[in-house]
Amino acid sequence: MNIILRATRSLMQRGPRRTLGIASSYIADSLFDLRYGTDTLWHVGMERLTESEELRKHGYGYQPTRARAFSRLLVHMQLPPHLGFVDLGCGKGRVLMLAARFPFDPIRGVELSGMLCNKARFNLQKYARHFPRAAHVEIHENNAADYPLQADENVLFMFNPFDEAFIEVMVTKLRKSLVDHPRAFYVIYNNPIHAHALDEADILPVRKQYRIGTSCFAVYSNRELPPETTHKLCDAIA
Ligand SMILES: C[S@@+](CC[C@H](N)C(=O)[O-])C[C@H]1O[C@@H](n2cnc3c(N)ncnc32)[C@H](O)[C@@H]1O
Repeated sequence: MNIILRATRSLMQRGPRRTLGIASSYIADSLFDLRYGTDTLWHVGMERLTESEELRKHGYGYQPTRARAFSRLLVHMQLPPHLGFVDLGCGKGRVLMLAARFPFDPIRGVELSGMLCNKARFNLQKYARHFPRAAHVEIHENNAADYPLQADENVLFMFNPFDEAFIEVMVTKLRKSLVDHPRAFYVIYNNPIHAHALDEADILPVRKQYRIGTSCFAVYSNRELPPETTHKLCDAIA
């Protein structure tokens, strides 16, 4: 019933085309879990993820990145091999699983909630039956604000892990890390609600925006980026 009500509201607010897009993306996400025996779909509120009042104020709860949109973005970006990938606020590990299908090395996830870290480890084990590289993904239970960026990390992924104040902390770390260890760097920011903190920092001068299905990613880099997109991209890997 809830689904019917939500569909009707969406039809009225967004129209049939966008509603269909959202529905098909949701179905693709459900199929991802069914296909690999993982558990990544359900949202978890911030109040269930940390005891800390302070962190609750700055963070958002768990919600997964759309699997199809993220794969399409990576196919479109054509990044060089052997870049290190880190997901700050990796939740149940869906983005890490998908990243394991691309030639990133190493792949790391940082997550505040011990419960979600365990879930991510469980999911990665299941996924590794299909894609063995997923077995090498590292999960770090840590507050992302305290996580020291490593010299072998080149791609930093974020999907609403925290508010503007925390993004500014991250920007300061990134600036220092790039001075200490100059290297190619990419920030992939899904649903970039606090993008202006990165825009103003001006450490990664190339900025492009990719709208894929119902998702929007802002990408920042000190290297060239492929053209922006506002519509469906090349076929994702299945
Ligand atoms: C919207 S979810 C994104 C999950 C995953 N990155 C994805 O895209 O599928 C944001 C995650 O960030 C985590 N988080 C929030 N604040 C955090 C912090 N200070 N340090 C580490 N993780 C945090 C939440 O627990 C949640 O799992």
